Amino acid sequence: MRRPLAELAAYQALRSHAQEIEKRTLREWFARDPKRFETFSRELGHFLFDFSRNRICERTVDQLLALASECEVESWRDKMFAGERINLTEDRAVQHTALRAAGSASTEPGMSQNQILGRMEALAGKIREQGFSDVVHLGTGGSQLGPRLVCDAFSDEARFGLDMHFVANADATEIDRVLRGLDANRTLFIIASKGFATPETLANAQVAKNWILQGDRAEKSIARHFVAVTSRPERATAWGVPESQVLPVWDSVGGRFSVWSAAGLCIVLYLGMPAFRELLRGAEEMDHHFRTAPAKQNVPLLLALLDLWSRHFMSTVAKVILPYDTRLRYLPGYLQQLGMESNGKCVDRAGGALDVPGSAIIFGEVGTNAQHGFFQYLHQGSPALHCEFIGVVRAGHSHREQHELLLSNMLAQARALMCGQTLEEVQARDRSPHAEHRVFPGNRTSHTILIKELTPHSLGQLLALYEHRVFVEGIVLDINSFDQPGVELGKHLAANLLENLRAQGSVQDLDAATGALLEFYRRHA
Ligand code: F6P
Repeated sequence: MRRPLAELAAYQALRSHAQEIEKRTLREWFARDPKRFETFSRELGHFLFDFSRNRICERTVDQLLALASECEVESWRDKMFAGERINLTEDRAVQHTALRAAGSASTEPGMSQNQILGRMEALAGKIREQGFSDVVHLGTGGSQLGPRLVCDAFSDEARFGLDMHFVANADATEIDRVLRGLDANRTLFIIASKGFATPETLANAQVAKNWILQGDRAEKSIARHFVAVTSRPERATAWGVPESQVLPVWDSVGGRFSVWSAAGLCIVLYLGMPAFRELLRGAEEMDHHFRTAPAKQNVPLLLALLDLWSRHFMSTVAKVILPYDTRLRYLPGYLQQLGMESNGKCVDRAGGALDVPGSAIIFGEVGTNAQHGFFQYLHQGSPALHCEFIGVVRAGHSHREQHELLLSNMLAQARALMCGQTLEEVQARDRSPHAEHRVFPGNRTSHTILIKELTPHSLGQLLALYEHRVFVEGIVLDINSFDQPGVELGKHLAANLLENLRAQGSVQDLDAATGALLEFYRRHA
């Protein structure tokens, strides 16, 4: 059993180091070292990673790497790739990386990934022959966020005459809006649910089934209009999906790590198998880098450690994901689940109370839209937050001048956060009153990631990079990043309240607020 993080020598050394350097500003760091950018940036394949605008020096990096070493990150990494059962509470291996390792097999019974890929390709081919015009993907959380991100990123390149739709919410307005205007004869539904028990997804599936049947189609037509992706195939067949149309997901692949699995069937249908394989290939290359690159060149490791530095020693409680590319508009939501559902925890692997903060709050929005949303706070609000800018060099469109406008905004924002603006600088430029209101504290940290071109391959690398950052953070925190007990209580209470609501039950056993709210609903529904 490992000692609590705060008691580790490397952690305590970092705490002292942070106190030593906390008075230094980013402006000073850059003024003192003209080579700062070279020291704190890395090029890797399609990417340039700039982490020079963190409040660090070379000693910081050395001490962060010492922390990783004291936490045996490399050993845990090797355990994950070897298929050891590191998912402590569910007694499972963690095998999303095996999904993109060509020819690998999981340590669990069932189909190999190559067999699953073959099934995906064959099913997609069969579906394409049936004249569907629309595919509706029913799933939520990790059974939707990744597939939706990838399909949307490359929607301009979809070539198979299919329109993709995603429904996740228990609020039936979402599915109603999607189904409105669709032709039931030409619509296929993918029910994506690892457990095939998520109430939202099953409720939407029932609405879809009724919609298909409403046109006095015989029960048999259900078989034509539904496929399923799940770790519980027996539940899918019991629901009415033919066995040949049920694709398996390994138990050892967590929902938020499952875009590489058969949950990506919609990607194969919408963008083609080559694109899906490119996504996998990119992720596999990042896996190789994570497993083999020396620590100081290991980008997932370095960025993970800098995440910890920001959260634990620079007190930035939130990480703001800012993709300056509409094709990545779903990336913040994806990373929110990946990071906060993995590491937003308060108990360590030994079951003790975590003595340090877990995951940062993760949120974000595409740029430049975010500049008109919460950038006032980012520049002058408190506490300061850490930003992650993601830009793409080659635009997904032909409007070069507008792309230059977009990227100049992204670069300017990171610069403004870092430099700020003193009262003297304000007044030197603008003698109007209330100059104090235009002072910017600056010294606000950020990473900037530049991608040469957004392709399924580079997106696969990026998503795998984030997975490994979450992994490293969880190991250093000594928590289990691969379960999600925190979602269970709400689910349980919701089931009870639903039963109460439908049975017109008494509210006396409920807290007064819930009871009163239920009563209000009943009076006005
Ligand atoms: O949010 C809780 C969660 O279990 C996620 O981890 C998962 O991605 C999502 O619900 C959907 O679960 P399933 O794929 O089993 O429907």
